[in-house]
Amino acid sequence: MNGNGAVLVRREISSLALTDPIVTGYARGVKRMRERDPEDPTSWSYQAAIHGTPATPASKLWNQCQHATWYFLPWHRMFLYYFERILRAAVVEDDGPADWSLPYWNYCLGGPHAFLPEPFRTPASGEDPLYVAERDPRLNSGKEGLPEYVTTPTRALQRPQFVGKAEFGGPRTGFQHSGETGGTLEMTPHNAVHEFVGGLMGSPETAALDPIFWLHHANIDRLWSEWIATLGANHQDPPDEAWRNFSFSFFDEHGQEVSLHCSDVLATAANLGYTYDTEPAPPPPPAPPIAPAVSAMKPTQREMIGATPDGVTLTGEQSTVSVPIAPQAADGFGENVHAYLNVEEIEGERSPGVSYLVYADLEGGEPPHPESPHYLGTLSFFGIERARNPVGDESPHALQASYDITPIARELQAQGKWAGHELPVTFAPLTLVPPGAGPTSGVGSNPHEDRPIRLGRLSVFYDA
Ligand code: C2O
Repeated sequence: MNGNGAVLVRREISSLALTDPIVTGYARGVKRMRERDPEDPTSWSYQAAIHGTPATPASKLWNQCQHATWYFLPWHRMFLYYFERILRAAVVEDDGPADWSLPYWNYCLGGPHAFLPEPFRTPASGEDPLYVAERDPRLNSGKEGLPEYVTTPTRALQRPQFVGKAEFGGPRTGFQHSGETGGTLEMTPHNAVHEFVGGLMGSPETAALDPIFWLHHANIDRLWSEWIATLGANHQDPPDEAWRNFSFSFFDEHGQEVSLHCSDVLATAANLGYTYDTEPAPPPPPAPPIAPAVSAMKPTQREMIGATPDGVTLTGEQSTVSVPIAPQAADGFGENVHAYLNVEEIEGERSPGVSYLVYADLEGGEPPHPESPHYLGTLSFFGIERARNPVGDESPHALQASYDITPIARELQAQGKWAGHELPVTFAPLTLVPPGAGPTSGVGSNPHEDRPIRLGRLSVFYDA
């Protein structure tokens, strides 16, 4: 629980006045945490290093964040929970309210909400604990905001399953500080928002040093609750014991080491003592039954039906690559079969600060649109540096991205343009947008020649 036995409500930042004790308490709490000895696990820099840090040698529990894995959501929920307790204790030390809770940044609402929240950009000075000079200057000045392609959670919330590369929560893995392929919520909006805020937020090694990190993650955490609450869609957390019984360690507000299992953090109101202002009143639905671990290891039948011979280099301009689909793809596309596009071997020195839209079979001249059936999702590069220089016993690897292309593949099949034909895949760069921009704004050249991204093979798979 949160320490006072009450259920606290996390609030949307723009619903709070600049003078609200939640906002002023956050700024003062951040300042207090920064003043602590960096060896103190409740200090600002130590907490950020638990997420990730380039500093060596690593102290206890550094470099723990879980990316491109089915532990992405539970790990970050736990991390936020203990951080909120530490921050609240700092607020109380400073005579602030004992029911202080972490606010969230709901950029998903679009319009003014897609701009960096005001307390984080004013006053624009090093004196302000919430201001970080290294962010993208257009966001920090409030002149431009995130395009809807970056902020929309719609694609992620529509995914039917939690587990899987192109599914809501991410692929089944072990402990994974920097993996290859994230789930759909991790890709958009999570990675794309990191990418566009830039500066410290642009890399997992520094992201949690920016105070906006915690509000961004509170929103991601809220979207997990929202996905689960969509009961009609039968959304469930993984029943697998390998997920539910996995535990992670943190430090609490007393600097004591503590740990939680994934199954401990599913009912946030009952077990962690918080809820979101958008959530209906508790109690949450009963937990799904625990499935035996063996049945959870359902074998998949993956079959590659097409691949490009080479890759492509992205430098901030739109480009299209065609994937030849084998004639044999006419067979085996049964009713329960899904088709996936994989972007393999994504490599670059560092994140370019630009995300791309990915389209399949974009007709010549058709303007990209988030509601288009040809739109597959975004491609972002958050974590690309860490993948090349991993910590601990992980080996260097490239990133990957996966998209479910079943609807478009079926449509092409119906038109006789699937098996034995070419599937054009288009990458279109995104840019920040001025106030009043519409839902299709933000597509346009955004050169990053000094930070090119190389994509390896594009491949298409059937999976039953
Ligand atoms: Cu572990 Cu948003 O990053």
